[in-house]
Amino acid sequence: MTVLENTATRYLQLAETLAQAIHEGALLPGSRLPAVRRCAASHDVSVNTVLAAYRHLEDRALIEARPQSGYYVRGVLPALTAPRQKKARVATPGNERRELIETVFAAQNHPDYTNISLACPQNSDFYPVQKLARITASLLRRKPDLIGKYALPPGSQRLRTEIARRAQTLGMSLQGDDITLTHGCMEALQLALRAVTQPGDCVGVESPTYFFLFPLLSSLDLKTVEIPTHPEQGIALDAVELLLQEKRIQALLVMPTVQNPLGFTMPVEHKRRLAKLVNQHQIPLIEDGLYGELQFTTPLSPAVKHFDDAGWVIYCASYTKTLAPDYRIGWMAAGRFAPALAQLKSVSSMSESVLLSEALAEFLESGGYDNHLRRMRLRYARQLDEARGLIARYFPPGTRATLPAGGFVFWVELPESVDTVTLFHRLLQEQICVTPGPLYTLSERGNHALRLSCCYPFDERYVWAIRRTGQLACELGGYPASTESTTHTLE
Ligand SMILES: Cc1ncc(COP(=O)(O)O)c(C=O)c1O
Repeated sequence: MTVLENTATRYLQLAETLAQAIHEGALLPGSRLPAVRRCAASHDVSVNTVLAAYRHLEDRALIEARPQSGYYVRGVLPALTAPRQKKARVATPGNERRELIETVFAAQNHPDYTNISLACPQNSDFYPVQKLARITASLLRRKPDLIGKYALPPGSQRLRTEIARRAQTLGMSLQGDDITLTHGCMEALQLALRAVTQPGDCVGVESPTYFFLFPLLSSLDLKTVEIPTHPEQGIALDAVELLLQEKRIQALLVMPTVQNPLGFTMPVEHKRRLAKLVNQHQIPLIEDGLYGELQFTTPLSPAVKHFDDAGWVIYCASYTKTLAPDYRIGWMAAGRFAPALAQLKSVSSMSESVLLSEALAEFLESGGYDNHLRRMRLRYARQLDEARGLIARYFPPGTRATLPAGGFVFWVELPESVDTVTLFHRLLQEQICVTPGPLYTLSERGNHALRLSCCYPFDERYVWAIRRTGQLACELGGYPASTESTTHTLE
């Protein structure tokens, strides 16, 4: 059973059991849930607990109450549990990809556009804004000289100590001195690549992967090797082993926990094997752990770095997704590469803002972070279900979506008659922004896929944009557009 947080009450546990049965197809769309009294008896809970669980599932758009009749499973999206088999390597050429990324960024920046795929929570209530503002203002009042000081490497000891302390929740045993502060996770990834590769080297990445890695790698004159990645199990470890044995890659850059765009977390045994492989073959693994703290289940699955015996794993993360995107505070724990990386950081951007580092440190010390994470995990889990429910209702039949283990992004595969770059351009005409699959992979697998995100208030605008995306996808794919709830058959 998936249990959200140790503190979850009985009704949430029951709701999770039922949600899982719905996602796995044990409870089919359209089927009636057991009557409240019968459910209470079979789960040995009170009637009120069952009612609370059913209401919770109703809020998550997984079930619906029908007057005088009971509770029924709604049309839910089939889960994407196996990759679509595709020929590899029919790439969107580099220039086209760059133009596509620029168009996406322009639309994401435009205040009039409705975004349904930006991987950045879009409302101040996704962040502890008030508390951070209070701490930052109070620091500035108490220590105005903070902004008159030159920020020198290695940056705030207080923040590095807090980051090291918190890294224990992901199984990493670190000290403040092991941490290099960076300008977001993006700088951490770039520095890590610069430290461990030479121009012309090959870097193994997941397929699909975070789309900005492609321009990042090519800006450093590095070649990309895409490695097949399963929507639930993660990167194919046999393929990784072969590439390492044949010395065909000089580094690996992966997201083993809450991967962007698929959302999976690799099983712990796979993480252990991955760490063993890179240590054995002495090839650096850059672990992007940006969404690691947003896992839905506790205790959190440990980072691959947890199994890193000889220091070949470079862990990179930031607080841009959980606390304050604008502070741009990221960090890395670079194992055997730490001295080289600290030097590279100094010559590339010196250090992070002292004021913002100290404010973040004070926030982390104050103990509010865990509470904030707990609320966000529950909220994103609920919003993911709601978003999947909307997609089930409005997207063409045959559409499938991943079931993320955390965070707020997910991958949607549409029928092969829907070309998602065409869909993207059609949606731009209506000021709706999605990110098309070909940005995330050089293989054809992305041609019919979208990466969507649910870190928005579920207001009329968001619902309208999802509905329009589904309607246009139906039009492009030759399906009748759905305006009402439809039930999709689970595969
Ligand atoms: C997987 C992944 N890594 C890195 C980044 C960049 O993170 P930051 O904003 O902290 O630089 C992103 C941003 O969306 C991301 O999704």
